[in-house]
Amino acid sequence: MAKSLAVLTSGGDAPGMNAAVRAVVRAGINSGFQVYGVFKGYNGLLNHDVKEMGLRSVSDILSRGGTILYTARSKKFVQVEYQKQAADYCRSLGIEGLVVIGGDGSFRGARALTNQGIPCVAIPGTIDNDIACTDYTIGFDTAMNTAVEMIDKIRDTAQSHDRCSVVEVMGRHCGDIALETGIAVGATSIIVPEVEYDLERDVITRIYEQKDTGKKHFIVIVAEGVGGSQEISHYIQHRTGIETRATILGHVQRGGSPTLRDRVMATKMGVAAVDLLAKGIGNRVIASHAGKIVDYDITEALDMPRQFNKDLYDIAMKVSI
Ligand code: F6P
Repeated sequence: MAKSLAVLTSGGDAPGMNAAVRAVVRAGINSGFQVYGVFKGYNGLLNHDVKEMGLRSVSDILSRGGTILYTARSKKFVQVEYQKQAADYCRSLGIEGLVVIGGDGSFRGARALTNQGIPCVAIPGTIDNDIACTDYTIGFDTAMNTAVEMIDKIRDTAQSHDRCSVVEVMGRHCGDIALETGIAVGATSIIVPEVEYDLERDVITRIYEQKDTGKKHFIVIVAEGVGGSQEISHYIQHRTGIETRATILGHVQRGGSPTLRDRVMATKMGVAAVDLLAKGIGNRVIASHAGKIVDYDITEALDMPRQFNKDLYDIAMKVSI
């Protein structure tokens, strides 16, 4: 039986996942492996939904959003019984290693499967940038660029009407998209789950101060992890008398053609994952640290505390006046 690797995408999709799949398939074939694509995340290993991938089966996907392998959050896969089944299925195909592209939930699945004898290497793929061990997760840059494009449009109409716009961006528990997007659009206030906020101090006072210097339209960015953008919008209108509208950007941030940064990062991470598996090393997470590609033990990675970039937040507040 030929030595084989497999690749799957799991959890929420992110632009650049296809670039990572392409890198794994091509680097795997280059290293002498037969490479299987597993469809719909871990469910594909339970439903035997896999396909052998050739060099050309990943042509023309580098620029495409979404994931050609489809994705899912598998409820079954948290149970040992199903993890064993998946490992047996991998052995039946001669799969000696698996690359998992996804968020921290997907990393737990990769650790479980490694414990069942199939070495797995995880690649951080999520727009949220919420994984502690890495400076960067695939999809983050594209999601922010999409958000900036949308908010620039919202600004045009806010400006024409002298309005305030409250814009909610994605980030389940993490304010990174809100923070960098907020800086890029010159938001008056940025509300993130990592920084305790007070609407009077952090929004209303700032709007009044800016109004006093002649500003007439305002953008307030709210991270999904804080939520309540509609209520915040009503509060601003009630307290300031400025007409205010709320927009939730939602899943538009998860789609679209990946940026250069996401394509290059996904390619580097995909190749690094195959390099580890080719040496028989599993239970690792690929990460980007200070401009270099590194890797960590999955448990060590999952236990790391996430650091919010408070310095960047302070810079934003200093400049948006
Ligand atoms: O983790 C990425 C993410 O887009 C979060 O920002 C968001 O909270 C969540 O996924 C939405 O998930 P779903 O697509 O299942 O609604």
